[in-house]
Amino acid sequence: MKDLREWIALLRAEGELVEVTAEVDPHLEITEIADRTMKAGGPALLFRNVRGSSMPVLINQFGTERRMCLALGVESLDEVRQRVADIFELLSPPKGLGEALGAAATGLRTLKDSKPKIVSSAPCQEVVMAEPNLDVLPIMQCWPEDGGPFITLPSVITRDPVTGGRNVGMYRLQKHSATTLGLHWQIHKDAAADWRAGAGRMEVAIALGGDPISIYAGSLPLPKHIDEHAVAGVLRSERVELVRCKTVDLEVPANAEIIIEGWCERGVLAPEGPFGDHTGYYTPVDQFPVLNVTAITHRKDPIYPSIVVGVPPSEDVWLGKATERMFLPAVQMTLPEVVDYDLPFAGAFHNCCIVSIRKSFPGHAQKVMHAIWGTGLLSLTKAVVVVDEWVDVHDYTQVMWQLGANVDPGRDVMLSSGPLDQLDHAPSRPSLGGKIGFDATATWPEEGYARTWPAVARMDDATKAGVDARWGELGIMLSGRERPGPSSARRSRFGRRGS
Ligand SMILES: Cc1cc2nc3c(=O)[nH]c(=O)nc-3n(C[C@H](O)[C@H](O)[C@H](O)COP(=O)(O)O)c2cc1C
Repeated sequence: MKDLREWIALLRAEGELVEVTAEVDPHLEITEIADRTMKAGGPALLFRNVRGSSMPVLINQFGTERRMCLALGVESLDEVRQRVADIFELLSPPKGLGEALGAAATGLRTLKDSKPKIVSSAPCQEVVMAEPNLDVLPIMQCWPEDGGPFITLPSVITRDPVTGGRNVGMYRLQKHSATTLGLHWQIHKDAAADWRAGAGRMEVAIALGGDPISIYAGSLPLPKHIDEHAVAGVLRSERVELVRCKTVDLEVPANAEIIIEGWCERGVLAPEGPFGDHTGYYTPVDQFPVLNVTAITHRKDPIYPSIVVGVPPSEDVWLGKATERMFLPAVQMTLPEVVDYDLPFAGAFHNCCIVSIRKSFPGHAQKVMHAIWGTGLLSLTKAVVVVDEWVDVHDYTQVMWQLGANVDPGRDVMLSSGPLDQLDHAPSRPSLGGKIGFDATATWPEEGYARTWPAVARMDDATKAGVDARWGELGIMLSGRERPGPSSARRSRFGRRGS
């Protein structure tokens, strides 16, 4: 897909879009409508008549598993990782020198082939505002206690002052005035590193809208040296087109709807927040940099994309789930013993990680906990639950069963401490606090278990085959299925809300 308009056309054709012509208020009302719609598994919404602005608002575009798959052009979220397999080879530990070099070369070639293409003119610059004015955008105030209106679905583009490398991050932006925005890049994020690494002014560009993969790419926790635009190019099988900004030395997606350009002064901070966040709580006022807007450009008749986060599940959960699926090979590269992992929606992606492993030595579960607490943004995980390889980490009934049945709290709970997500309100100090690991694997004699670990009570194959053969004659209908299968409990792999 080329841009947001092609994406909207696809949503319409797939019966996944409702266009609302009644007037709606960006102050709280859109949130209430979008949040109800998302939580009921409803469609994407295009509000055509937004009070105070001539721009329509697109929201809930990623609000179901099906729409997330449509956005990525895949049948299932697991399919996404095939597209980026070559790139993850770049992060892989050497197997043999020849093989490692070969794999890295393929990864590098893939990224190089998908490098963004610079174009000289672009739809996102069809209109250049004479005087930049954020008041014309339908920026929503999402929750009653929010500190004001926030842009919630931006791609924030910065440059590393040392390497010159580009970063794209999805960081919310608080509207402070008609020409200033709060830049909420958290302490562990790449743009915050760009900010710390230099002195003086830092240029920033913000893209709103574009094709759905380019929008999503800003939320990917990629290593700093990998350009999100190149990965977006790999995911869409087509290079992203970029155009140079009008007033800053940065490039932005040519097919975006709206571009905001500006600069912030390193060392200058202002209060940002509160904001009803994806933790389900308000994050308190904190100090963040301020963007001074130097230009706003846009397409003719621009469409403003937005998202609501709040008490989970909210629309962002499918963006996070896609990333979780995509990064499984990356986790397995440092931890080949990992079979699968799951970051529950309700855990806001940083509070809990359930991981299944092929356990092969005493203390293996503890090794995996330490590794997770030392890997990229997964290092911010507060609770890790380790289960045996046969447990389905996406089936929380199985996981709770294993936790309850296998864990001796005096033996299998590991307490640690370290960096936590900046949004976490539980620790006494921001971004730093306790960690907990639960070893819910079967305990081995070598781990001090002197009794006999019991076997799981399962039916034998002969009896199962016999009942399979006789099921029709029994006349028992279960949940509309003639014969219950192992996956009958879940329509989606990720819980019952996948539409
Ligand atoms: C809807 C949405 C909003 C987000 N808002 C923020 C935010 O305000 N600040 C932040 O640091 N991360 C936010 N994130 C998470 C980042 O986008 C994510 O950590 C990403 O990896 C950051 O890019 P980086 O790794 O290049 O820093 C948000 C993610 C989503 C899906």
